[in-house]
Amino acid sequence: MIRIRSHSFTINRSLAVLTCFNERLKLCQRNVELSLSRPMNLTCYAHSINDGHKNKAFPLPELKDEVVGYIFGEKKATEVAHLVWKHVVREGDTVVDATCGNGYDTLAMLKLVADDSGRGRVYGMDIQADAIKNTSSFLGETLNPKEQELVKLFHICHSRMEDIVPLFAPVRLVSFNLGYLPGGDRSIITKSDTTLLALLSAKRILIPGGLISLVVYVGHPGGREELETVEAFASELTVYNWVCCKFQMLNRPLAPVLVFMFKR
Ligand SMILES: C[S@@+](CC[C@H](N)C(=O)[O-])C[C@H]1O[C@@H](n2cnc3c(N)ncnc32)[C@H](O)[C@@H]1O
Repeated sequence: MIRIRSHSFTINRSLAVLTCFNERLKLCQRNVELSLSRPMNLTCYAHSINDGHKNKAFPLPELKDEVVGYIFGEKKATEVAHLVWKHVVREGDTVVDATCGNGYDTLAMLKLVADDSGRGRVYGMDIQADAIKNTSSFLGETLNPKEQELVKLFHICHSRMEDIVPLFAPVRLVSFNLGYLPGGDRSIITKSDTTLLALLSAKRILIPGGLISLVVYVGHPGGREELETVEAFASELTVYNWVCCKFQMLNRPLAPVLVFMFKR
C-alpha cells in the first residue's frame, strides 16, 4: 500500500513538474521575438493581447488584414502601428506622441481618444519648433475647434515627457516615430541616449493594458545603434508584466522596424 501511494505521489509530482514546465514554455513563447520567417508567432502574440482584453473578439480581423498587408509589402510600418493602437486605445484615454513631426501620428491618436465627454487627451512633443508648427497647422486644417482643444503640443525633448503629462493621467499609449522630420533638417534626429530616457519615462507613466509603440529607422547614421538601444530596453522588461515584440523585414535591411511593448 505504502509503495503504491509513494508511486502515485511520484507520478503526481512528475505531472506537476510537467505542467509547470508547460506553463513556463507558454510564457517563453509569448516573449518570443516575432519574425516574419516564423508567422506562427503572430497567432501567439494576438492571443496574449487578447488575454488582457477579454471583451475583444479573437481573431482580430482588422489587425490580421493589416499584418498580412505588411507581410505582402502592401502596408507601411506606420499603418500597422496605427492599427495596433486601435486595439489598445479607448475613447477618453490619454496618449502621448513623443515625436509629433508633421502631425500624422498625432491626428491618428486624436481620432482614437476623442469622444463627446471631451476627456481624451493627446500630449504631443517635438524637439523642433518647425515640427510643432507643422503639426499645429496640420491639425488646425483637419480638426474642428473642439477636437483641437484635446491636443496639447510642447516644444521639448521627449525625455521630459513627465514634465507635461499630468501625474495621474491614464496614459494608454506612448508612440515614438524616430529619426528625422520628413521634409525638414535631416541632421536633427532622435538620439539613443534621449530615446532611452524617454522610454524609461514612458514605462513609468503607462497604465497596465497600455502600449509603447516605436517605428525605428535604421537607414541614417545612428539609426542602428538606436534600434539596439530600443531592443536592449525591451528585452529587459519582465515577461510577467510585458509582451515585447519586433517586426522587421529580413530582405530589406533599411526598412523601418516596428517595436511594440505591451504592458499587461
Ligand atoms: C520621423 S519624425 C516623426 C513623424 C511624425 N510622427 C509624423 O507623423 O509626421 C521624427 C521627429 O522626431 C523629432 N525628434 C528628434 N529628437 C527628438 C527628441 N529628443 N524629442 C522629441 N522629438 C524629437 C524630430 O524633430 C522629428 O520631427
